[in-house]
Amino acid sequence: FYSVATTVHRNPLFSIISPDDISYFKTLLGERGVVQDALALDAANTDWMGKYRGSSKLLLQPKNTEEVSQILKYCNSRCLAVVPQGGNTGLVGGSVPVFDEVIINVGLMRNILSFDKVIVSGVLVCEAGCILENLISFLDDEGFIMPLDLGAKGSCQIGGNVSTNAGGLRLLRYGSLHGSVLGLEAVLANGTVLDMLGTLRKDNTGYDLKHLFIGSEGSLGIVTKVSILTPPKLSSVNIAFLACEDYTSCQKLLLEAKKKLGGILSAFEFLDSDAMSLVSSTTFLGTENHGQEVIKDKHGQDFTSIDLRALPLEFWYSYASGSIFMENLEAFLLHSVESGLVANGVLAQDINQASSFWHIREGLPEALMKAGAVYKYDLSLPLEKMYDLVEEMRVQIGPAAKVVAYGHLGDGNLHLNISAPAYDDNILAKIEPFVYEWTSKNRGSISAEHGLGLMKAAKIHYSKSPETVQVMASIKKLLDPNGILNPYKVLPSSLLSQN
Ligand code: FAD
Ligand code: MLT
Ligand code: ZN
Repeated sequence: FYSVATTVHRNPLFSIISPDDISYFKTLLGERGVVQDALALDAANTDWMGKYRGSSKLLLQPKNTEEVSQILKYCNSRCLAVVPQGGNTGLVGGSVPVFDEVIINVGLMRNILSFDKVIVSGVLVCEAGCILENLISFLDDEGFIMPLDLGAKGSCQIGGNVSTNAGGLRLLRYGSLHGSVLGLEAVLANGTVLDMLGTLRKDNTGYDLKHLFIGSEGSLGIVTKVSILTPPKLSSVNIAFLACEDYTSCQKLLLEAKKKLGGILSAFEFLDSDAMSLVSSTTFLGTENHGQEVIKDKHGQDFTSIDLRALPLEFWYSYASGSIFMENLEAFLLHSVESGLVANGVLAQDINQASSFWHIREGLPEALMKAGAVYKYDLSLPLEKMYDLVEEMRVQIGPAAKVVAYGHLGDGNLHLNISAPAYDDNILAKIEPFVYEWTSKNRGSISAEHGLGLMKAAKIHYSKSPETVQVMASIKKLLDPNGILNPYKVLPSSLLSQN
């Protein structure tokens, strides 16, 4: 494991769990809700990348909001630090303990509470432990879709998505969770339950506090229920996988797609040739090397053998006017090829091919994880500068590691990954602070969608002014005066320990 914990010190004000604490939790939650089993704790202490590892001795699994409230009230009175955990798919070390914090997972709270099917409504109300993929399937049967989709859907929980303000593959069309989450219920550090579970589209009564919990990574409260606006499912969907000769063409293609396709464009993703060759050479559990199998153009030429940047585009069009949209789409693709923006490409011929294209894109994080150690940077940057950073990073790193770039181009979000055989401080010294300074100089964000977690808590000043960070620290102190909720994450610890 990477030795990140050495950069922060355990807050000595936090208590250490005692047998009396365990007895209290067993009385409150029953045996099932109090997990001390070594294997289960090992998994809950380790993050998805195997990069961050805590040493918690206790995982609690409440079944309802009242239990969450009682747990927090007790932990607050005992000054026991806690880490809220969802599907544990976070990529910034936010979901695992740093030291011995109590892990609280709301995974047993997985009921769908209501769904308003009327097309103009489409409001889903559910508990925070619902797995994203289960919500997607539920809505599919009802003729609706979730406004967010991401590669971790099989494990991540909606409470975790809301707490990280996850972006994902559909943000271009459906916007961020700050728009689609209509309400939520959250429990504060002292056990107070905040009922903000509205289902209204419009509600301007005072400060809209729910937004504090969207993206605050479990540092202000535990999200227990969510109400979310879901769009109706369109009957037809198509995806094109296109290759451009250089980044500038990709960027121009995005602008053209936005102009010509407007509302029917739901995703515009990007992966460079290093990303493409990595994912093509990775064997996924239960599947063969799909990259080279499916990416063939209509002449049967293998895409992966071409050293070009490739990007999948997804087009959605409604069945009723599908033929019109299909004509639009074909005309756009034809024009893009004729004008030289697109060098080669495939339009999915059926649903299986469409999902294979997504499988390639969504398989990238796993491919990187399997390749060894990975330093992940999740940046918002001005589109015209985005790929300059990738190229400069390649020069900066040299042959010691591979620079692999992909991301949500349509949202100006670059995922810059540096893949190395093992975590190595010499490599890290070549990446940081270079990458943060570069991003800050270009007025980008050092976290577009993954959050700050432990990884970037001390780096927040690269993207936020001192005054802004100070207000954030005041809010944290107001809502969680003992600092028990997800300590060492999101904000610099030095700032929170000051009076
Ligand atoms: P966890 O990882 O368990 O927790 C994440 C953070 O939220 C932690 O700080 C935790 O303390 C807090 N938290 C969790 N649940 C709660 C709760 N109920 N109340 C309060 N705080 C809570 N992110 C994107 O934005 N876009 C992507 O496209 C994307 N793709 C991914 C693909 C893969 C393969 C993987 C592994 C991760 C990806 N992620 C992506 C990162 C990750 O942020 C999301 O997977 C997801 O939103 C995290 O949800 P989770 O339930 O796993 O939360
Ligand atoms: C993605 O877009 O695939 C996710 O954000 C995960 C990652 O950056 O690796
Ligand atoms: Zn992403």
